Amino acid sequence: MNLKGRDFLKLLDYSEEEIRYLIDLAKKFKVLKHKGKNHRYLEGKNIAILFEKDSTRTRCSFEVAGHDLGMGVTYLGPTGSQMGKKESIADTARVLCRMYDGIEYRGFEQSIVEELAKYSSVPVWNGLTNEFHPTQMLADIMTAEECLGSMKGKTLAFCGDARNNVANSLMVVCSKLGINFTCCAPKELWPSEELRNVCMEVASKSGSTIKMTEDIMEGTKGVHVLYTDVWLSMGEDASKWEERINLLKPYQINMDVMKNADEKAIFLHCLPSFHDTKTTIGKEISLKFGINEMEVTDEVFNSDKSKVFEEAENRMHTIKAIIYATVNGK
Ligand code: CP
Ligand code: NVA
Repeated sequence: MNLKGRDFLKLLDYSEEEIRYLIDLAKKFKVLKHKGKNHRYLEGKNIAILFEKDSTRTRCSFEVAGHDLGMGVTYLGPTGSQMGKKESIADTARVLCRMYDGIEYRGFEQSIVEELAKYSSVPVWNGLTNEFHPTQMLADIMTAEECLGSMKGKTLAFCGDARNNVANSLMVVCSKLGINFTCCAPKELWPSEELRNVCMEVASKSGSTIKMTEDIMEGTKGVHVLYTDVWLSMGEDASKWEERINLLKPYQINMDVMKNADEKAIFLHCLPSFHDTKTTIGKEISLKFGINEMEVTDEVFNSDKSKVFEEAENRMHTIKAIIYATVNGK
């Protein structure tokens, strides 16, 4: 397997074997990190990480992974660089690839990260766009495997805003890896028909199924992984909260839903999560709409079924694998 020079823009571009390879590599990096073994394999190289939206996990994962590999890391936030305002994406890519060995981008349309990649001679990594969140997927599957063993033939159910970047990417990764994917959401928030069709075609080859339902109890019966994400994503207008809350309230992951799943089932969430009122937005929503928890109850979030912090840690190990494989070639 040699992924040197490859962009990491969406998982549809990667084969099952390549995804498998990256997850296995991340597991090896995790062992090295936990044993405190030096793995500064990319000493002297540098990466630039561009964020047009906020981030805790993805930014910190790229920074720590880069440093652990011995690399220099430059963070460019939504302000402070010329990107977008005085300099096009294409020109930014052509400048950065003269200095850096890889470029991460988090922002809005998928077409922006695709454009960066088109003009960059070094690998470009998608750290989240409106459409996809591919680096998240490797951490999610890695975590599920650590808890449940091979995921092949098992079922992951996503409940909530199922046409967002995370749900889209989960449907893709499940279809690639032979994992059954069930979407529990109101019809208007199902993934696009176009993406569903692509994933069904991929799933037919890997031997898995893609299912859509509006019935959360039917959709989560006996499943192995329960997954949810925020009801309103970054970049969406706050005026949509009311409509989204009304649509998605029945799709909250609570203990009834958790008990409906397989007895060994785990709960995953990409995070950040609105499971209490300890955040500014959580407080505002509570005052305005009278709800103290949204996509997941505090009880499930803090239960031993919840593996969200293992999942968050795995973001770093998987991102390290992506950087290493695409910059170094092994
Ligand atoms: N899951 C995730 O991407 O988190 P951040 O927004 O904190 O990077
Ligand atoms: N769907 C969320 C994911 C955050 C990691 C968002 O785009 O805001």
